[in-house]
Amino acid sequence: MTQTLLTDDPYQAAQVLQKGGLVVFPTETVYGLGGNALDESVCRRIYTLKNRPTDNPLIIHLSDLQQFSQYAQIDTAIMEIIAALIPGPISFICQKKEKRIFSSGLQTIALRIPDHDLTRKFLQICQLPVAAPSANISGKPSITRYEHAVQQFQGRVDCILKGKEPQIGIESSVIDLTCQPPLLLRRGGMSFEDLNRLFPMIAVVDKAEMYTTPPSPGMKYRHYSPQGQVVLVNELPDLVDGFTARIGFSVSNISSFDKQVENNQQYMQQLYAFFIECDGGNIQKIFCQKPLQDQWAAVLLDRIQKAAGQVFLERK
Ligand code: TXA
Ligand code: MG
Repeated sequence: MTQTLLTDDPYQAAQVLQKGGLVVFPTETVYGLGGNALDESVCRRIYTLKNRPTDNPLIIHLSDLQQFSQYAQIDTAIMEIIAALIPGPISFICQKKEKRIFSSGLQTIALRIPDHDLTRKFLQICQLPVAAPSANISGKPSITRYEHAVQQFQGRVDCILKGKEPQIGIESSVIDLTCQPPLLLRRGGMSFEDLNRLFPMIAVVDKAEMYTTPPSPGMKYRHYSPQGQVVLVNELPDLVDGFTARIGFSVSNISSFDKQVENNQQYMQQLYAFFIECDGGNIQKIFCQKPLQDQWAAVLLDRIQKAAGQVFLERK
């Protein structure tokens, strides 16, 4: 059992990280489980804690743009586009420059500057690249609430930083800038439409059946799944019992685990917390209503379908 410091002080959290500790911290997307990216043994501890396959690389979190060129090889034109998008819910895959960064043996790294004031301050004080996957056990829903971070990580990490809850609620978009045109490897908190304005030729990897080797290692693993069976439906059923829960726009006879949302953004913000609450309530069947047709429909569908177990390349 590890002694876990619960704090809202970024200086204290940074001190823990600098000493080789692991820190769970909020971002605008989901909570991260971070450690010093230059220290391989720290990174290996992250994999063990999450039960994460070691070929799945971590995102490197930084506080400002100057650090990008310290750790990665990026040409000036691309740097200008990156500058227009940060801080924000997006991770950029670039050629790795700093050899000491742990990258699961890859020559590329994912860099991200979260749009979260307290965490950015924490990263700035750390003065280190912070490797952080989403703070969840591999395959389970990501964490978007402090109380869930405490439930799952108290006694297992060295510090949990308390701050503003994730406003977006799903992970960052991951874009590969090492190929031409850039490739969107994971849909996420930055909409495809917004990205498309800056990267007019952008391609998307939604159908990984097309690939013999997935372009992003994370793609071949099952994701975001609660214990209950997730079912995507056009209309939510009326029938409720103690083993069923529903999330969507038209929930009738709301019972304790049901979640009514008004729009897709609220749906994104609630989805993972809803799944975790369902797990806590031993819910067996989870109905998710189809998202509304707007720029967030594709990413929401992606997460719901993955939670339902419809992934293109599942291990085993
Ligand atoms: O919003 C987020 O991105 C959160 C917060 C904590 O920042 N982090 C997150 O990390 O979602 P994680 O580890 O759950 O997802 C990282 C994804 C994985 O699918 C991984 O395979 C991919 O990014 N990735 C990381 N480095 C990569 C690389 N060099 N090449 C291709 N894919 C990479
Ligand atoms: Mg994750």
